Formats: sequence, C-alpha cells, structure tokens
Amino acid sequence: MIRAVKGTHDLLGTALAYHRTVVEATRRWAEAAGAEEIATPIFEHTEVFERGVGRTTDIVQKEMFTFSDRGGRSLTLRPEGTAGVVRAYLEHGMKVWPQPVRLWYAGPMFRAERPQKGRQRQFHQTGYEVIGAAEPEVDAEAVVLSWRILAGLGLSRMRLKLGSVGDAEDRARYNAYLRERLAPHAQRLSEDSRRRLETNPMRILDSKAEADRRLLEALEVRPMLDFLGEAARAHFEAVQARLRALGVPFEVDPTIVRGLDYYVRTSWEIHHELLGAQSALGGGGRYDGLSELLGGPPAPGVGWALGVERVALAMEAEGLSPAPAPGLDLYVVPLEPDLVPRALEMAAHFWPELRVQYALKARRPGKGLQEAERKGARFAGLLGSDEAAAGTLTVKDLKTGQQRTLRPDEVKEWIRGGTA
Ligand code: HAM
Repeated sequence: MIRAVKGTHDLLGTALAYHRTVVEATRRWAEAAGAEEIATPIFEHTEVFERGVGRTTDIVQKEMFTFSDRGGRSLTLRPEGTAGVVRAYLEHGMKVWPQPVRLWYAGPMFRAERPQKGRQRQFHQTGYEVIGAAEPEVDAEAVVLSWRILAGLGLSRMRLKLGSVGDAEDRARYNAYLRERLAPHAQRLSEDSRRRLETNPMRILDSKAEADRRLLEALEVRPMLDFLGEAARAHFEAVQARLRALGVPFEVDPTIVRGLDYYVRTSWEIHHELLGAQSALGGGGRYDGLSELLGGPPAPGVGWALGVERVALAMEAEGLSPAPAPGLDLYVVPLEPDLVPRALEMAAHFWPELRVQYALKARRPGKGLQEAERKGARFAGLLGSDEAAAGTLTVKDLKTGQQRTLRPDEVKEWIRGGTA
C-alpha cells in the first residue's frame, strides 16, 4: 500500500475541523484589522528564500525542498510565507498603495526537518504582514492580533515572549562580541556552531546541541538585548508601552533568537505550556530590510505566523473542541429502485441552499431512516411512488420525530427554520 510521505499528513475529520477553526479565526481577526487575503505560490525561485530568510540559517542550509525545473532553474517549496509575500508586494507595486499594506494568508509550508510531535515536513501556517510602516504601533498591532486569535480560541496556558534583535548595526556589534567571546573556545562547540562562528555567530544561541548550550552558560554570554542601539531600544520600549496599554500579557525574553535572518528590532514567540519540545504556537517580528534584500526599495514591515497543527495540539491538550463541520440537512431515500433518479433530482433541486445527499439504492422506510441517522442528517426525506406522483416528499425531523409530507419549496422552508 502506498502511504503519505514521512512528515506529511492528510487533513480530514477532526484534524481538518481544527485546521478550519484556526484559519477562520485568523481570517476573522485579520479582516477586522483591515487586512486583505493573499495567496502566493507554493514554490518560488530559490533566491527568494536564500536572500530573504538568509543563506546561513538552518532553514536555508538544511531544510529546504529545492529542485530544478526543466529549464534548470532552482525552485524551492516555500518554507515560510513572509519572503513570498514581500516578493509579491514588490512585484505588484503595492508600494504605491496607501501604506501600510496589511495582508493575511493561510497555507502549507515545507521544511525538511526530522518529524516529531508538532513538527512536520509539510505543515500549515496562517500569517499576517503589515508592510510599509515603521511605527511601534504596528508592531503592537501585530502582537496583539496574534495573541488574541489564540486567546479567542480558548487557549490559556500560553506565554508570550517578547524581545528585540536590534538594528543591523547592533547585530553586527553583537556578532563581533560573540565571535570574540567564543573563538578561544571554538573546539568545545559543535561542528555546526564552529561553522556558525564564521558565518553568523548569533545562530549559535539557537543551537540545540548540548555542548553549545553548556559552553554558552559557562561563558555567561551576554544577551542581544544588551547590545541594542538607542533607536532600537526606544522602539522596543514604545512597543512594550503599547502592549501594556492593550492589556497583552508579555514577558521580555532577552535571549530570543528567531530562526530567520530578516528580523530586526521586535521579535516574539508564543509558547504553550503543555506542548513539550515543539512548544512555539507562533512567532513573528519586524523585517525592515527584507524588501531591499529582495531587490526592492526600503519598505519596513512586521508580521507573524501561527503553526496550525501546533495550535490544534494545544487546543486538544486544553480540551478545546474545534467548531464542528456542518452536517447534512437532509437525506433523501427512494423507496423503489426506479425512484433513485428522482431522489437525485430532489437533492439537486435543494443545492446549494441545503446540504442534501440521497441513497443510491431503494430502501425500506425504517432502514432509510437509520441510514439518515448514521450519516448525521437532521432530516430524512422518504420518496415513495405516492410522493413521486404528487411531487412531494415525506420529511421526518430526526430530532423531534415530527413528520410531514410537503412540496419541495415547503420542505426548504421547514428545514431552514429547523436548522436555523
Ligand atoms: P517561524 O517561527 O519559523 O516563523 O514559524 C512560525 C510557526 O510555524 C512556528 O511557531 C511553529 O508553530 C510553526 N512551524 C514551524 N516549523 C514547523 C514544522 N516543521 N512543523 C510544524 N509547525 C511548524 C515564520 O515562519 C515567519 N515567516 C513568521 C513571520 C511572519 N515573521 C514575520 N512575518
């Protein structure tokens, strides 16, 4: 038997119901804030991510699904949404729209990571990006939305960790500090981190390797937050003040490092206390230089993404059910074999106002009602030769037991009233 590829999952049933719940919550809040939906392609020129996410990140170095098209161009399945959204912002000249432009999206992302609970190779994100504004208000706007979407789903065991990775020049100073501090002990670092020491020392702080963790602790390496320049510090304080005013409970995490290189200034993650190793439900930050990395003019931006599967796991862990998928309104049962085509016509007559299925084989009334119940229908419609001759349907409300023989327009009215 052929199975789904390792690290990928079919979405159906309850998993899909959770998925839809998270996407709809994102849509509701993002649209409330005036965002427009965008759907960018699943694959992009590899450059978009190399330049955007950063050549020295784990995502680009180890986790991308990259392939050549028939013309030999390098393409990559998107590992995240932001770089593609900013590419689209530039390509469609959104720079001349009233700024800032607010966009939201939902869709699959791909990272060749080792699969474990809460970590897949194809996973889903919903995301929100505000492009074209540098004010701290939009950072706070993005944070409060990400927080309230999750809180609105009923989640409570969450922690919002807020930090700042400074401006480019602050990061350069911090990288120089890290290089100086760690270089004499390079032999105690993991192989990956020895390479990072050359390319991007800040990435070492994100390392999961035990040796790296021990060394960082022993050397009492100072956090990025100590290296913020005046502008980045003032911005960070303003964001915090806005968040306090909005009543968002956050904790400052001086050590926050995100896995993507485009971040400057504000960055945050929302963690869930019951999720174990992969506890980040979502994260985001400011990416003022990203537009230029992609060859565009300056266009500051800030945004976030939520991991849909992780949010679903967190909801399950807190005993929260997804919004149930709407069930069938009506199940039409032909009582004679030659009435099956009429059952189809009856069902088709009600679409799309009502959700209707029909039996493909004639059933005795009792069996037909049972089948309707198994299918989760609210009403059953029995179609015998009398009904066929009169152009009616005998409809039974499976909840109340009430039964009436009605014309199709009356059926519609009754069912609409019954399920409203
Ligand atoms: P990220 O932190 O890499 O940020 O991903 C956001 C969320 O996606 C994570 O917090 C996690 O819930 C989920 N996630 C990431 N990788 C996996 C995986 N392998 N399996 C399951 N879930 C996963 C970004 O992607 C940025 N684009 C967010 C952003 C938007 N920053 C600014 N704008």
